[in-house]
Amino acid sequence: MNVTRDLFDEVMVPNYNPAAVIPVKGLGSRLWDQAGTEFIDFAGGIAVNVLGHCHPELVKTLQEQSEKVWHLSNVLTNEPVLRLAKKLTQATFAEKVYFANSGAEANEAALKLARRYAVDKFGAEKNQIIAFNQGFHGRTFFTVTVGGQAAYSDGFGPKPSAIDHVDYNDLSALETLISDKTCAVMMEPIQGEGGVVSPETEFVKGVRALCDKHNALLIFDEVQSGMGRTGDLYAYMGLDVTPDILTTAKSLGGGFPIAAMLTTSEIAKHLKVGTHGSTYGGNPLGCAVAEKVLDIVNTPEVLDGVKHKEGLFRTGLEKINTQYQCFSEIRGKGLLLGAVLNEQYAGRSRDFLVAAAAENLMCLVAGANVVRFAPSLVISDEDILEGLSRFERAVAKTVAS
Ligand SMILES: Cc1ncc(COP(=O)(O)O)c(C=O)c1O
Repeated sequence: MNVTRDLFDEVMVPNYNPAAVIPVKGLGSRLWDQAGTEFIDFAGGIAVNVLGHCHPELVKTLQEQSEKVWHLSNVLTNEPVLRLAKKLTQATFAEKVYFANSGAEANEAALKLARRYAVDKFGAEKNQIIAFNQGFHGRTFFTVTVGGQAAYSDGFGPKPSAIDHVDYNDLSALETLISDKTCAVMMEPIQGEGGVVSPETEFVKGVRALCDKHNALLIFDEVQSGMGRTGDLYAYMGLDVTPDILTTAKSLGGGFPIAAMLTTSEIAKHLKVGTHGSTYGGNPLGCAVAEKVLDIVNTPEVLDGVKHKEGLFRTGLEKINTQYQCFSEIRGKGLLLGAVLNEQYAGRSRDFLVAAAAENLMCLVAGANVVRFAPSLVISDEDILEGLSRFERAVAKTVAS
């Protein structure tokens, strides 16, 4: 069969518009397409390939588990899921874990749990969910409605109700809106899709205090920021604020689809037998891989490495900016970084991405004004420097066009 980009248009639902190249092989932070052209990967499968492509330890783990047992369903438990849950609880504030297959599903579980907890404990009136404009929490109808971007949530008929939004980093707006009817506040500890926006420390602390005052649960969506990406295992650890519920996906499986919702025993007990579930949640293949990812990422070597590599990125991007004057700011944390286009180049992030691809560099955008970088956490310094020099050529061409 002749597999080309044209086949996509022929057989795929048109909700995506992928690039023309089709990668067929990956190793570390390099990818090769069908023609054998090599790319440096600063995109990491949108903050997923946390240990790069085909990390030997993950390949070995997946192979070994594939010869033991693939799938059992939740009618039976399995060893990898229990080991992974134990390690996640040891490494975080959480005492209980629920497994899912995608970020949206973990968030769906978190939102349903928050509603159920409030209904059980305080009554049906306590059902308001507050989230933030430009947030992103997934594409199920509940999560996309909680995400604060009408472009994604409108046009599908009546939405789930009792969901309100305020601006990120606007504590007084939250203070005005929150009340004893609020059951949860959901936020990303760094807004990823919304433009790589970090919260101010006082804002996060203020959100926690307002949740406590009104008996509302604080849900941190760490689908993008979690599993070492910011240089802490989870971003909350660097903010000095502990959520009540945390969701994690993307990097958790290093490329194998798996997600989890973490919480305390006190909250978890409200998802009683039969209240929620998923056929594949806690699948042994995914859990075996995620356990290995966690073992490797949750080490000083990898986490300190993220901080060092952030420095290389920032220095390189600032040097590019000194020459080409196209960014107003380099923001984000660890290896979730955004180069914000200044007024002269506003709205043109895609042009930078396309120019980078032409220089054999994969990167991302986060909205029309931010070029985003979310590479492997173990990308080599050489690959960072080579990728940045390709990015510099892409910038030179874009500003000249
Ligand atoms: C913060 C955040 N939450 C949730 C999601 C949705 O995850 P998934 O696409 O795995 O459902 C994403 C995906 O980009 C995300 O960045």
